Amino acid sequence: MTALLNLGVLISGSGSNLQSIIDHIEKGKLKAEIKIVISSNPEALGVKKAKNHSVPVAVLDSGKFASREEFDSEMARILKEKKVNLVILAGFMRILTPGFLKSFPGRIMNIHPALLPSFPGLHGQKQAFEYGVKFSGCTVHFVDEGVDTGPIIIQGVVPCYDDDTEDSLSQRILKEEHRIYPQAIQLFAEGRLQIEGRKVRVTHAGEKSIPEIHNPPLFGF
Ligand code: GAR
Repeated sequence: MTALLNLGVLISGSGSNLQSIIDHIEKGKLKAEIKIVISSNPEALGVKKAKNHSVPVAVLDSGKFASREEFDSEMARILKEKKVNLVILAGFMRILTPGFLKSFPGRIMNIHPALLPSFPGLHGQKQAFEYGVKFSGCTVHFVDEGVDTGPIIIQGVVPCYDDDTEDSLSQRILKEEHRIYPQAIQLFAEGRLQIEGRKVRVTHAGEKSIPEIHNPPLFGF
């Protein structure tokens, strides 16, 4: 039997992506084990979610560290101690330092609530909603030195309707996040992701059968 992929999941907030990863592991669809959840926020709801499933948690209160470098080097120490092979940012609201990135080259993933490279940074859903796009979605990508600029692994597209609110659009995006993130991690676990410059090649990615989509729909054109 091949060894399970060891995950370290970094969170700051409600932890719904963490929950989805836990659920997929418990269902046996995602062949991984969460070795540690690290929260940058003692009050994060995600901390409770991890504990409910007996997943080990470390809370690092950023206020207690003299610098970002110190915070990140403590995170790296914990993740190495737990023999983590892949670091998962799941609503982790801090920019990682270059030192941390060097500790896990090609082994850090993030999920962003927009179709990158559009609407990077904070509040991707709100930015897309206010811009008036007809489609938005979410993106899982490897993390590099930039903000949401790393090579893209998978994207999920959702429509934006005229009667949407920022909240209804955000909910639709979040549902999609919960599907694509576990799959991206499983692809990594299976060794099917190759980073080639800006691009991520996915081996055996399935049929190229996705139709063009339009919103509003075409009527006879
Ligand atoms: C998710 O929508 C995630 O895409 C976003 O924060 C939310 C966390 O939700 N991440 C970012 O905006 C990162 N720039 P969760 O804590 O319920 O998983």
